[in-house]
Amino acid sequence: MSGGHTGTRLRAMRWQDLPEVQRIETAAFPDDAWSPASFWGELAARPRRDYVVLHPILGEVLHAHHAFLGKFCPPEPLMGYAGLDLAGETADVMTIAVDPAHRGEGHGVHLLEALLDRAEAAGASQVMLEVRADNEAAIGLYSRYGFAELHRRRGYYQPGSVDALIMRREVGHRD
Ligand SMILES: CC(C)(COP(=O)(O)OP(=O)(O)OC[C@H]1O[C@@H](n2cnc3c(N)ncnc32)[C@H](O)[C@@H]1OP(=O)(O)O)[C@@H](O)C(=O)NCCC(=O)NCCS
Repeated sequence: MSGGHTGTRLRAMRWQDLPEVQRIETAAFPDDAWSPASFWGELAARPRRDYVVLHPILGEVLHAHHAFLGKFCPPEPLMGYAGLDLAGETADVMTIAVDPAHRGEGHGVHLLEALLDRAEAAGASQVMLEVRADNEAAIGLYSRYGFAELHRRRGYYQPGSVDALIMRREVGHRD
């Protein structure tokens, strides 16, 4: 899959991104944001875990400065990030989040396409994910990309007893 994603670029997440990741994470998941330690753990679990970030192309100039100036330069700004667990036949979407200031601009699509491509490249034949049944934006995104509900865990998310939807889509080619 490919898209006309002008003005942004995807690359693998690195530890220098974690302050920006945490900024977006806290805004995206105010009630149950992952901690910095969780993200460190995810990066430590590479290559089984595979995370990408989306940054404005302008950010590359900043990145060059960052490489030169090190800690004296602010972190490269990010617009979103997403991650996979690669476990052979089945890949799981661990998370996907876009900066609230940049939602509705196609970045969720860009990130999800990248995850699907990476899952396929790693040899997965299906991608699974779990989403709150009240998360209309995410369900809209996943449905548009061919994910279908496989199973529903009633009252899984507390408080509020919100259902969890397990969604699945095939990737790659099968003989
Ligand atoms: C879900 C999320 C990643 C979508 O990112 P985004 O960049 O705004 O999405 P896009 O602009 O790429 O939109 C892609 C599709 O998603 C769906 N979508 C996006 N926002 C939506 C909304 N508010 N309501 C319904 N559908 C929506 C639509 O199908 C849209 O396609 P369309 O524009 O052709 O209608 C973003 O809302 C987010 O970060 N949410 C908080 C974190 C989160 O809930 N992550 C998912 C955890 S399972």
